[in-house]
Amino acid sequence: MHRIAVVPGSFDPVTLGHLDVIERAAGLFDELHVLVVHNPGKTALLPIAQRVTLIEQSIREANIPGTILVTSWSVGLLVDYCTDVGASVLVKGIRSQIDVAYETPMAIVNRDLAGVETVFLLPNPAHAHVSSSLVRQVASLGGDVTPYVPAAVAKFLKPAAS
Ligand code: PNS
Repeated sequence: MHRIAVVPGSFDPVTLGHLDVIERAAGLFDELHVLVVHNPGKTALLPIAQRVTLIEQSIREANIPGTILVTSWSVGLLVDYCTDVGASVLVKGIRSQIDVAYETPMAIVNRDLAGVETVFLLPNPAHAHVSSSLVRQVASLGGDVTPYVPAAVAKFLKPAAS
């Protein structure tokens, strides 16, 4: 059986924590789709197409092996995308109990809606404090985000003056 999994998220921008989860998930499934989804609850920093490009660059630069497709989805439910491409599993990284509380209802609803299971992966604890919202805040105030994001993202977010 050819197992397809989807790693969904805002990825605004992709962080080292995301990349770690992508690498682990790519090793577990035959095909992995990294899906950039607009989250209406969050104020965006980067356009969706830019997020896709930065994820692609980051995966390439990190030499992550496996069959990985990076794309975006803006119409309908996340599970509609899964059904369209034949994916049976969603993969999410869990850093803390807060993530568990946030992800659990979504996982149950996605299973109810379409039978799509969610697999939670524990990322490298070194990245447990890293989030896209933290990176957005540090970057918007002119700080250095190099420790938290792939090199391609750090280069893109670097203030023009430096
Ligand atoms: O990186 P984020 O912002 O935590 O990702 C959240 C995301 C995009 C995965 C979540 O908002 C989502 O699943 N959106 C799709 C809309 C949907 O299908 N909702 C109903 C089931 S939860």
